[in-house]
Amino acid sequence: MHVLLLGGGGREHALAWAIRANPKCDRLTVAPGNAGIAGIAECIAPDLLDICDGAAVAAFARAQSVDLVVIGPEAPLAAGVADALAQAAIPHVGPSAAAARLETSKSFTKEICDACGAPTAAWARFDDAAAARDYLRQTGAPVVVKADGLTAGKGVTVAQTLPEAEAAVDALFAGGTAAVVIEEFMAGEEASFFVLCDGTDVLEIGTAQDHKRAFDGDRGPNTGGMGAYSPAPVVTPAIAAEVMARIIRPTLAEMARRGTPFRGILYAGLMIADGHARLVEYNTRFGDPEAQVLMMRLGAQALDLLQACAEGRLAEIAPIWADDHALCIVMATRGYPGPPGPNGQGSPIAGLDRIVPSSRLMVFHAATRAEGGRILAAGGRVLAVTARAETLAAARDAAYAALGRIDWPEGFWRRDIGARALPPRGA
Ligand code: AMP
Ligand code: GLY
Repeated sequence: MHVLLLGGGGREHALAWAIRANPKCDRLTVAPGNAGIAGIAECIAPDLLDICDGAAVAAFARAQSVDLVVIGPEAPLAAGVADALAQAAIPHVGPSAAAARLETSKSFTKEICDACGAPTAAWARFDDAAAARDYLRQTGAPVVVKADGLTAGKGVTVAQTLPEAEAAVDALFAGGTAAVVIEEFMAGEEASFFVLCDGTDVLEIGTAQDHKRAFDGDRGPNTGGMGAYSPAPVVTPAIAAEVMARIIRPTLAEMARRGTPFRGILYAGLMIADGHARLVEYNTRFGDPEAQVLMMRLGAQALDLLQACAEGRLAEIAPIWADDHALCIVMATRGYPGPPGPNGQGSPIAGLDRIVPSSRLMVFHAATRAEGGRILAAGGRVLAVTARAETLAAARDAAYAALGRIDWPEGFWRRDIGARALPPRGA
């Protein structure tokens, strides 16, 4: 079968790696891909295919006899690429633009939660700053201020004080945000919960925890994620059952009731406290770097699951889990999540050839390019060193050992990935 995967980050390298490992896949095309993906798939340059142009993606898939399209990032979903593929009757994984509103609109998700009774933070939406400030004076701090739109994780302020919350509201409106959502602050431990949905059935495909802050000890600015591990020990079987019964299934039923059934990957960000989970947010795609650890654990069967999702056959299939753990460390260019320092962009990365890739150890590329036989950094998050082992500690040690063989002076990474779930390294 010929699979077309859209995207070009570490998430997509991990997806490409798992899909390629399935003997069913005899051809894999990735648009745009990256230097790591180019080693295992045919990459299509962005000037040849705009992955946010649904008509172009459908025409490409048709012309290339693609059997399955897997949509990695949120931008093509928001742009309606899945709608164009549905219209062209091309099997695909990814929700319609209407169903992707679970990610693209914070207030839409909150309305769905209210309508179906899913537990989440109390909230209010404002389209003017004065009303938002009035409301903040009632709630006090800590409180959470969010832009009501797709902001790549950057439109959220967890404000510890009222002036900080007011400043966040003002900054969002001054920056052109049309509306803000103000939420009750939820204390607890965060975890990510992933399911596949085919419009009728739903399948759990794993849990993970990521590390959002740039620096050790959860300090520094928020990022897209500096590392992750799976499974998330905080999601006990009882909590997972509760999440399915009180959050996921009611949400899917409400989406179907509204005539916009959700089909694709649903990623629930959870806050867990006192043995119960509340919803922080939905994403309508795999996380990055959560996909790296999920794919490392699922391996080749990921393609069977994705295909069943696209074909409405989730009732017939279930993932087979080994009793294992995966951990991923992101290596980023110094300066990330801000702009790279003067020498960061295009800086050479050496030593990758010292790491032997296997089903237990992979260096996924997130933003690299190949030039003159060298691999160069080409973005903020650049590599995702991912290992799998019988225990989380062993997976962490294997990932850090591999990372130690990489020579990239312009890069940085956290040294405490997995720490929340583990005793300190060397202890
Ligand atoms: P979001 O983009 O909505 O996931 O928010 C980004 C991050 O902000 C989350 O992963 C949480 O760490 C934090 N956050 C968002 N909403 C809340 C909330 N209501 N209470 C506590 N933390 C939150
Ligand atoms: N790592 C968080 C996300 O992909 O949204």
